Amino acid sequence: MATYKALFVQRLEDGNFKRSIELRETTDLPDNELLIRVQYSSLNFKDAMSAHGNKGVTREFPHQPGIDAAGVVEDSRSPDFQVGDKVLVTGYDLGMNTAGGLGQYIRVPAAWTLRCPRGLNPKRSMQFGTAGLTAQLCINKLQKMGVTPDKGPILVTGATGGVGCIAVALLAHAGYDVVASSGKAEQSNLLRSLGAVETINRAEFSEPNPRPLLKERFAGAIDVVGGDTLANVIKSIASGGSVACCGLVQAPNFQGSVLPFILRGVNLLGVDSVEISLEEKLGAWKKLARCAGLDTVASLNTSITLKQVPQALETLFAGGTVGHTMVRLGR
Ligand SMILES: NC(=O)c1ccc[n+]([C@@H]2O[C@H](COP(=O)([O-])OP(=O)(O)OC[C@H]3O[C@@H](n4cnc5c(N)ncnc54)[C@H](OP(=O)(O)O)[C@@H]3O)[C@@H](O)[C@H]2O)c1
Repeated sequence: MATYKALFVQRLEDGNFKRSIELRETTDLPDNELLIRVQYSSLNFKDAMSAHGNKGVTREFPHQPGIDAAGVVEDSRSPDFQVGDKVLVTGYDLGMNTAGGLGQYIRVPAAWTLRCPRGLNPKRSMQFGTAGLTAQLCINKLQKMGVTPDKGPILVTGATGGVGCIAVALLAHAGYDVVASSGKAEQSNLLRSLGAVETINRAEFSEPNPRPLLKERFAGAIDVVGGDTLANVIKSIASGGSVACCGLVQAPNFQGSVLPFILRGVNLLGVDSVEISLEEKLGAWKKLARCAGLDTVASLNTSITLKQVPQALETLFAGGTVGHTMVRLGR
């Protein structure tokens, strides 16, 4: 048994939720095959939802959130992993209803766990986290649909957020002309330093627009916003282009016309980073490994300690985060 520190979310009698750093025992963790000492985690919108009591993410409280974890195996009942292996875990039920990576220990099934691929150690993998994995999965889907750099510019919405800013950096590195849509005009320079060729105000897309088609501006898009933004983005895609849809920060619902699909052959591509196979995750992580040393990837990351997590989650939940946040769990 070991004592460790974790973000602990409790439901109060008045229905509000309290977020604090508490001491926990490894015996409190679920009885799974791998005990992992978490060295790094990262912050995601879903962690903020869990930490604010969102029932769609976490049903039972008290709870230790964190959908990302990377570290070292300390105990293994699986033939596939040895003590000392450097591993990473993202998605599945981690941090939802299974104690997650915003704690110094997790105990998870081997079937959720990847050995860090060559080029990625626990720290480097959490510079990307689920945000980077999702950005890479979006790019994979766009490329599978033929959206190559020569086809035209790519729009990224929510561009200063975790998924958005990594998508901007990865797309720019791959040779795409990236148009970054953001609500933070003051961050234009940051987005350009990540490789965006143009920045636009997110208000251009965020209001309902009755027109079924808009000017064909983009060969493809990565949308983390959903709602009216997604509807307007779909209407702005050129013939044969595609939109990778992965988020809902504006709204989960959207209303649109079928005309972009039947007159322009636009493709709407769903992206899930959580429940896909470990094999598909590994393929994306191997691609991320090739970009791990990029200056842009380093520059978009802020590194914080566990103690700073409750405040950072408030900012993230309010849409105020700039860049990706990596968490150091070191003991
Ligand atoms: N499908 C998957 O597997 C998967 C994986 C990871 C994340 N996601 C989803 O992707 C979304 C983004 O996640 P994230 O971790 O990148 O979140 P994040 O770091 O909070 O970034 C979201 C960004 O969206 C913009 N934004 C915030 N509120 C908005 C609003 N009301 N309308 C329009 N834009 C708004 C902001 O950027 P600007 O100020 O620059 O506009 C914000 O920084 C979330 O919905 C998350 O659940 C899905």
